[in-house]
Order: sequence, then structure tokens, then C-alpha cells
Amino acid sequence: MKQSVEKERVPGGASSAVHPVSAALLRWYDAHGRELPWRGTRAPYAIWLSEVILQQTRIEQGCPYWERFMAHYPTVEALAAATEDQVLRLWQGLGYYSRGRNLLVAARQVVAQGGFPRTVAGLKALKGVGDYTAAAIASMAFDVPVAVVDGNVYRVLARHQGIDTPIDSTQGKHLFAALAQEWLPPSQPAAFNQAMMDFGATWCTPRAPRCTDCPIADTCVARHEGTIASLPVKAGKTRVRTRQFHYVYVRCGTATALRRRPAGDIWQGLWEPLLVEGDRALLQQAVRSIAGKGNAQLVLLRQGVRHVLTHQLIVAHFHLLDCGSFTPQLPSGYQWVEEADLDRHAKPRLVERLLALLPR
Ligand code: ADE
Repeated sequence: MKQSVEKERVPGGASSAVHPVSAALLRWYDAHGRELPWRGTRAPYAIWLSEVILQQTRIEQGCPYWERFMAHYPTVEALAAATEDQVLRLWQGLGYYSRGRNLLVAARQVVAQGGFPRTVAGLKALKGVGDYTAAAIASMAFDVPVAVVDGNVYRVLARHQGIDTPIDSTQGKHLFAALAQEWLPPSQPAAFNQAMMDFGATWCTPRAPRCTDCPIADTCVARHEGTIASLPVKAGKTRVRTRQFHYVYVRCGTATALRRRPAGDIWQGLWEPLLVEGDRALLQQAVRSIAGKGNAQLVLLRQGVRHVLTHQLIVAHFHLLDCGSFTPQLPSGYQWVEEADLDRHAKPRLVERLLALLPR
């Protein structure tokens, strides 16, 4: 499954030595690389799926999702035939739901083209596939000699070479991509790329890296200069916007009000209860306009639930508005859903937390 060879053959029969650091990392990978469920395959579908799932997700969390997707949709054709709701339902809990939506669009593109493109440029034309994912699929499925650069690779390179150019600057991106490509042995792109990622993830970790049994410590600049802890450097901490969400679970007999979240905001396509974004005055106003003449009471279930996203902090307040047998007029976009059918609707994790607080 995991293979490495230290000499590569270049066309014409000459042999060129693998970069000594790369050779050490390949040996390390043979001994310590992780056994991941998709590592035994060269199938682009299985590899693509794993890479999309792992884009913002830890391996331990992502593996069961990969298994589930492969079980439900064993082929790209099967996935392409799914509905967006089905895919989002299976994606639920992973976050960054645009990945799930893009997955379906890309599956349909692949089927329309009669199979996966075999080049980086062709792969990048698929929805949701950027530089990283294209390089990962091209190298692991098709042996294209292209280096992947993810957060782990940045860390290994920045420390080993002692580079403090910010990894999120244009200059840094070019520099690190060129370095990774320099280290890549063209005959073993799949093993090398995975070796770099695994090494960064399990050995050259952000905190407490295993420098004492590191196979490339001898030539590691940061180790010699004592700068391990400060590398890699990130320039721009992106600003985080705070939003106040009042979720009102409107209960009317055995039904509740839900809407699908619209385009142009987080959680597009997922389902949620009545949402009032803003302060309590807006909440009161919204409740008055739907509860109207009825005597339903707004009950606070929990306040100040923090939900952290990459560029946003959602501070959520959960409420219950039990209307009994009175059927209120819902704002546009919302519809009544039987509570027994709630499970069939893909919802953000934050909404699941509200549902867990509801009295039966
Ligand atoms: N992280 C994302 N994809 C990976 C892979 N193929 N190997 C190791 N770590 C990864």
C-alpha cells in the first residue's frame, strides 16, 4: 500500500538521487504513515471524496463520514444521482456545507464528462476543487508529479528551512509551493505527498513536535535556531464578525415552523426554525407579529450559546413559542413540518442543540 523507492528513474535511463530530506521522509512514511481507509485505492472518486471531507475536518472526525458516503454512494454515478437534500443530510455535522453542495455539482460534472479529469487543470475545473485538492487527486490517483501544500506541509517546510515569510501572503504561497515541488520525487508523488501531510500532522505538530526522534532534525534550521515554536508565521488574522441569532421554535400541535436557509449566507440549504437576527426588540416585534392575538408565551430555553465559525461568532439564544392549537401566520419562507419528520431535514449543528433542549 505505502511504497517508497529512493532512486527515481528519469526518462532516458539516467538515474537521479531523491532529495535527501525527501528520502528520509519517505522512509519515515514507510514506518509511521497512517493507515487510512482510502490509502489502499487509486480510485479518483474515493480519493476526491476523502480530500473534500478532510479539507476542514480532522481525520478522526472525517473517516466515518467517508465510510458512510462510500456505503451510500459507492460510485460517482451513484452520488451524481442523489438529491442535494440527501447529500446535505449525510454531510450533517461536518460543517462548511458548501463542500457538500459542491460535491454533488462536481459529481454531476464528472459523470457528464465520462470520468474524472486526469490533469490538475481539468480537476480544478470541478466545483469546489482548488489547488490543493487538484494536486492531491492528480498525484494520488494518477501519479502526476505535483506537490500538495496544506497546513501541515507549510509547517514542515517553514521549520525545516527556517522561513518566516507569512504562509498566507502571496509571496509565501509561491515560495512554499516551489519548495514543496523541489522536494517532490517525480516518481513517487503519491507516497511523498502523503508522507509530508502525515509527518506534519503526527510528528512536526504545531505544539510539542517530536524533534528528538525527528528523521530530518539534523538539517532543520528552526531546530538549530530555536524558532520551532514561532514557525510558520501567519500574517493576517482575519476579523471575526459577531452575530446574535434568536431561534424561536414555534410549536403548533404536532408541527413546527422551518425554512431552508437561503443563498448568500452560512448554512445555505440547511433547515432552521424561525430566526430573528439582532437584538431583543426585534425578537419581541417578530413574536408579536406571528403570535398576534393568541396567548402563546415565549419561553427562553437557553441564552448565549456560542458557535464558532471561521470568520463569524454566532451567539445564539433559543426560545420556544408554544401556540397550542392556534395556527399563527408564518413569515414568508417558512413552512410547517411535522415534528416526527424533523430527522429527515439536514440542520446546522447549532439547531440540533436547540432541538435537544425542547420539552417533549
Ligand atoms: N489530510 C488531507 N488529506 C490527507 C491525506 N491524503 N493524507 C494525510 N493527511 C491528509
